[in-house]
Amino acid sequence: FSAFLTDNFGRRHSYLRISLTEKCNLRCQYCMPEEGVKLTPRAQLLSTSEILAVARIFVQEGVDKIRLTGGEPLIRPDILDIITELRSFEGLKTIAVTTNGMNLARLLPKLKVAGLDLLNISLDSLVPAKFEFIVRRKGFHKVLEGIDKAIDMGFNPVKVNCVVMRGLNEDEILDFVALTENRPLEVRFIEYMPFDGNKWNFRKMVSYQEMLDHIRQQWPTFQQLQLGKTDTAKTFSVPGFQGKVGFITSMSDHFCGSCNRLRITADGNLKVCLFGNVEVSLRDVLRSGASDQELLEIIGAAVGRKKKQHAGMFSISQMKNRPMILIGNTFQSP
Ligand code: GTP
Ligand code: 5AD
Ligand code: SF4
Repeated sequence: FSAFLTDNFGRRHSYLRISLTEKCNLRCQYCMPEEGVKLTPRAQLLSTSEILAVARIFVQEGVDKIRLTGGEPLIRPDILDIITELRSFEGLKTIAVTTNGMNLARLLPKLKVAGLDLLNISLDSLVPAKFEFIVRRKGFHKVLEGIDKAIDMGFNPVKVNCVVMRGLNEDEILDFVALTENRPLEVRFIEYMPFDGNKWNFRKMVSYQEMLDHIRQQWPTFQQLQLGKTDTAKTFSVPGFQGKVGFITSMSDHFCGSCNRLRITADGNLKVCLFGNVEVSLRDVLRSGASDQELLEIIGAAVGRKKKQHAGMFSISQMKNRPMILIGNTFQSP
């Protein structure tokens, strides 16, 4: 495996997350401030060919999974071209998208033809009015339609991401688990994480242990399944239910030790950790006409500076970081 993508703790980074846009058709409270974010001028965002050039280098070095994120990746006009091109990269096994599901039902057939393998869809409430409050827009039924259609079209597993926030949707945990009874879904409860402008505080965070206790009161046999080596989620199921339930415990029990992820922001910065604010501009290096080798050395140096683990939730909540919308929906450490 490439030395450039291996860090000082032996972690091999074979999973790249690329943010395709800073724009979004929703305004989720946990992702961005009410007033929105200041968008990077278009000329400073990566073009289609720059995205593919960067992705190609990572795949040549051993990346075998790419997740396209945002903002909302499905509003990018060249989304199908990007997936089609990526599909031709030798060595790239999995192409995944994380989406808010708003445009999904309409695009699904084309995404499938282009070669998309996996879909993660955000849904934080099963109550339409509450959904609209959390995302500050309408569209609940469009998301549900997208989820159902993804299952019908054979995407497997379809993962549904639910960020749990006290006082907002923690009373719906059991309803989300019940969704897995007759659907081959994986519902994932995500601990609420702090980012600039999202008004995080410790009391609003519902921990994995608290969710687990609550679910076990209803379903005492709720049991843990085998943990994949680099999974972010701890996976469980209720025996007899078709689907699964996962917990993403970034706050109460981080999984930095098995992190295999790197991310590229829409403006072309390499971010080696979701909770790190050290970034290197690959865009500027690319635009300076650097060779692949020079680019790789810069990537390798950044990976070499990756910390063992994130700084802990209180430090993270104090530090300066981008709001989630400008990171591309994911993380690691400062
Ligand atoms: P797969 O494991 O490939 O299904 O995807 P994922 O769970 O990493 O991706 P998704 O975009 O669905 O993100 C779900 C949640 O996991 C989000 O809240 C992300 O911020 C979080 N997440 C993704 N990658 C990382 C990471 O490297 N570290 C941590 N701590 N959280 C992450
Ligand atoms: N805490 C936890 N998860 C978050 N996401 C966005 N912001 C946060 C946050 N502050 C999730 C979204 C999406 C995924 C990519 O990241 O729900 O599903
Ligand atoms: Fe948009 Fe996703 Fe952020 Fe919600 S979490 S505002 S859907 S990018």
